[in-house]
Amino acid sequence: RPSNSQEGGDGVLERGECRAKGGAPGFKVAILGAAGGIGQPLALLMKINPLVSVLHLYDVVNTPGVTADVSHMDTGAVVRGFLGQAQLESALTGMDLVIIPAGVPRKPGMTRDDLFKINAGIVKTLCEGIAKACPNAIVNLISNPVNSTVAIAAEVFKKAGTYDPKKLLGVTTLDVARANTFVAEVLGVDPREVDVPVVGGHAGVTILPLLSQVKPPSSFTAEETAYLTDRIQNGGTEVVEAKAGTGSATLSMAYAAAKFANSCLRGLKGEAGVVECSFVDSQVTELPFFATKVRLGRAGAEEVYQLGPLNEYERIGLEKAKKELAGSIQKGIDFIRNQA
Ligand code: NAD
Ligand code: LMR
Repeated sequence: RPSNSQEGGDGVLERGECRAKGGAPGFKVAILGAAGGIGQPLALLMKINPLVSVLHLYDVVNTPGVTADVSHMDTGAVVRGFLGQAQLESALTGMDLVIIPAGVPRKPGMTRDDLFKINAGIVKTLCEGIAKACPNAIVNLISNPVNSTVAIAAEVFKKAGTYDPKKLLGVTTLDVARANTFVAEVLGVDPREVDVPVVGGHAGVTILPLLSQVKPPSSFTAEETAYLTDRIQNGGTEVVEAKAGTGSATLSMAYAAAKFANSCLRGLKGEAGVVECSFVDSQVTELPFFATKVRLGRAGAEEVYQLGPLNEYERIGLEKAKKELAGSIQKGIDFIRNQA
């Protein structure tokens, strides 16, 4: 049977499939929404990740082509494609990590919240599948509005009795990548040398870069702080407008998702000191979910870090972020609780 089989999915290798060199079992990863703008380059990046032994590509369209294409890459991971709701369970069975970039993207003039109507239902269905087929998997949720979809996922898992707060992670890595890039431009350094914590959520004012905590320690003028905060908060809109109706960030997002997924896998493997920002179940503020730095381990987000010292500008930003976040989170919770 060819390795781009459209069936199977129990995570067990089939005839014609072989494990990564060295016999290391690696991890089983599924991408839901794998034929999309993010999904395709993300599939490519996960196929070259040496920690991945099995890669399942699921979408409601076009997975046979994407799977055939990616499966010809001579890297270790075995690739299998799954098409349509009837194959969701097979796609998910046995998975260690599920990455979800399924759903519609913004067009110019739209907010991320405008996507709620369509994406809420998509995330609900996919999470019901996860609760049934791989309740112990780590979930990386990319679909917007992340500030609401993470709450939707949590409610679905609670309803199914499978909720593990450590294993549900909203992906905010692109905010950090943008912050590192824009700050590096202002400082005139290599972005790889910069680390900007970005906390709060993933939309407009809820995206709160903590420029007072930038590494290496740096100071910014009031103008630089205002410029950088605004550009980081509106990085997504910058791309949406530049793409002029053809979608939102896909390539930088696939890069960010692959980076975050790799950190989750390194944590699963037992590596120490793996830290990323993520929108998670949190007690850092009065809100049920909040993005801060988290330490990733075998159990998922094993430690959620506090905010650290904020300056006055950041304290004001935090209040604005929390106000908007509260409504977005509640909207996600209500979406599930108000259904029969
Ligand atoms: P896209 O339209 O190019 O791709 C989405 C894919 O999802 C399509 O292939 C579509 O067929 C698939 N899909 C739709 N319904 C599905 C279902 N029920 N099950 C499985 N797959 C389904 O969009 P994109 O540019 O890849 O963006 C996807 C999502 O990611 C959007 O909601 C976007 O706003 C979000 N996004 C989030 C971030 C972030 O930082 N978290 C960054 C960029 C984009
Ligand atoms: C982003 O930040 O690029 C994504 O959330 C997509 C968007 O709609 O801006």
